[in-house]
Amino acid sequence: MKIIIGSDHGGLLLKDKIFQHLKDKGYDVDDVGTYSAMSCDYPVIAKELTTKVLDSSCLGILVCGTGIGMSIYANKVKGIRAAHCTDTFSARLSRQHNDSNVLCLGERITGFGLALDIVDEWLNATFEGGRHKRRVDMINELDEVKG
Ligand code: RB5
Repeated sequence: MKIIIGSDHGGLLLKDKIFQHLKDKGYDVDDVGTYSAMSCDYPVIAKELTTKVLDSSCLGILVCGTGIGMSIYANKVKGIRAAHCTDTFSARLSRQHNDSNVLCLGERITGFGLALDIVDEWLNATFEGGRHKRRVDMINELDEVKG
């Protein structure tokens, strides 16, 4: 499975941990940066990642200091359903019920161990469809209204 991963400077260390974790598990990981601790703008990375997630119909993981800026940006992109998670239960349910296609994490909020568990829980869960599809379709219709 292909996973796109990205962060700003505030999420660099956690992003690199997740990158290695996913590589070790055999995932095909595409890292869109940032690649240094130099300050950068999270919307630039979020734009690059969400474009690739939509083009490849795959999943993406965004990390910044809190996870909030990345999630605000990502959820403005039509077709992206970003889940900002600080626990494994929310991460699992965001896939099962909300069909989230982007996971947002905060390096300054969530410790590395828990963050990797959140990533695993999110990737191992699948969308349940049924009544949840009806609700996700309603969100997609909202995307259409916004253009
Ligand atoms: C960068 O200082 C910080 O604002 C950013 O990483 C993120 O937390 C924004 O939401």
